Amino acid sequence: MKNNRASFGSKLGIILASAGSAVGLGNIWRFPYETGNYGGAAFIFIYLGCIFVLGLPIMIGEFLIGRRSRANTAGAFQILAPGSQWKWVGRMGVLAGFMILSFYSVVAGWTLEYVFEALGNGFAGKSPDEFIQSFDTFSSNPWKPIIWLVLFLLCTHFIIVRGVEKGIEKSSKIMMPMLFILIIVLVICSVTLPGASAGIEFLLKPDFSKVNGNVFLGAMGQAFFSLSLGMGCLCTYASYFGKDVNLTRTAFSVGIIDTFIAILAGFIIFPAAFSVGIKPDAGPSLLFITLPNVFQQAFSGAPWLAYIFSIMFYVLLTVAALTSTISMHEVVTAYLHEEFKLSRRRAAWMVTLGCILLGILCSLSLGVGKNYTLFGLNLFDLFDYVTAKIMLPLGGMLTSIFVGWYLDKKIVWSEITNDGSLKINTYKLITFILKYIAPIAIGIVFINELLFTK
Ligand code: PFF
Repeated sequence: MKNNRASFGSKLGIILASAGSAVGLGNIWRFPYETGNYGGAAFIFIYLGCIFVLGLPIMIGEFLIGRRSRANTAGAFQILAPGSQWKWVGRMGVLAGFMILSFYSVVAGWTLEYVFEALGNGFAGKSPDEFIQSFDTFSSNPWKPIIWLVLFLLCTHFIIVRGVEKGIEKSSKIMMPMLFILIIVLVICSVTLPGASAGIEFLLKPDFSKVNGNVFLGAMGQAFFSLSLGMGCLCTYASYFGKDVNLTRTAFSVGIIDTFIAILAGFIIFPAAFSVGIKPDAGPSLLFITLPNVFQQAFSGAPWLAYIFSIMFYVLLTVAALTSTISMHEVVTAYLHEEFKLSRRRAAWMVTLGCILLGILCSLSLGVGKNYTLFGLNLFDLFDYVTAKIMLPLGGMLTSIFVGWYLDKKIVWSEITNDGSLKINTYKLITFILKYIAPIAIGIVFINELLFTK
């Protein structure tokens, strides 16, 4: 049943590409930092609940919208709800994708700089102050981060123009196993460091006395960002799925891989940090200031190990970021290609050039342009805030309402069970969550984040 729309070539390719979208800077940077912030194992426990109870049903919702309509995310809502305003949910997703891609690529560009810094043994012999100094000098430099940003977006671009099967699927099949091997080697190095056990304990021993409403909300927000939900990303990928793909099982596999990688990232970062007595720090500094310092100190007896560990870690980050930027790029490219009848190549160039422009502004807003603020935030932080805290929760909530309330039940049933050929024991549970639990829970996160936090 092939029409001339592109599609993924294999089920493994589907899982790896979707997992590639989910696994990214969110897992290796944001997850450890949030875990550190919210007190370790108790946070992870609640996070797991959020992934499996809320994240997976919404992912199935996005999958079924995409596969049913076989269109980009804005077109998908238009096809399933013709003449209604639901198309704005898709359009908001496209805009969110464009904005996230712009600032995410800035950080992705930094990872490239750090790969080259590590390759040139640039971390050796630096003091903690020098690490702070060199990160600040680099990130506020008007040129260097921009060059890396452009390079990173061009890498993303050239994968996208090769198409769904030859570009996205093939690159995911190479990069995801690579990422997996890198992460396992890094975990082994990290947990065998002297004094690593304090970090392991931090990850495994829950301290529920620290749990409050904020922890729950933080975990839910992280689950959302990490699974790439709320902006039609997985909806766009699902539009390239075959009719025989089991959506529930695919969502489950993606959720497991994403969670597993996030927890493994914790097992790299905390044992290494604890082994040298460094507290898990917050934000970009964890990856770009604290960690290079940790590597130098942790392997001070074997500098060659510090050298290899650093290179591997930043290559890991670059690969993880790339599989995610591809997915965001595809959301916007597919939209321009299909809705405005542009060739795929031209659409991709428009996205790449637009993101380079916005990315440059985001990058400059951390250095020379830091005095230009809106609501007290520079452009980089503003994009981060508006997308992660407003657009994604809103998109996810509306998606669950769309599937739970608006969409014909027959469509939902036929997509989840592949026209009755699959027996999905959790069918009733999934639809119940989409109808009631997800909209209410996300509504609470949304209101909380918008009204009670900065
Ligand atoms: N899930 C990605 C990460 O964890 O880094 C980030 C992301 C990708 C968010 C794609 C949203 C998206 F549509």
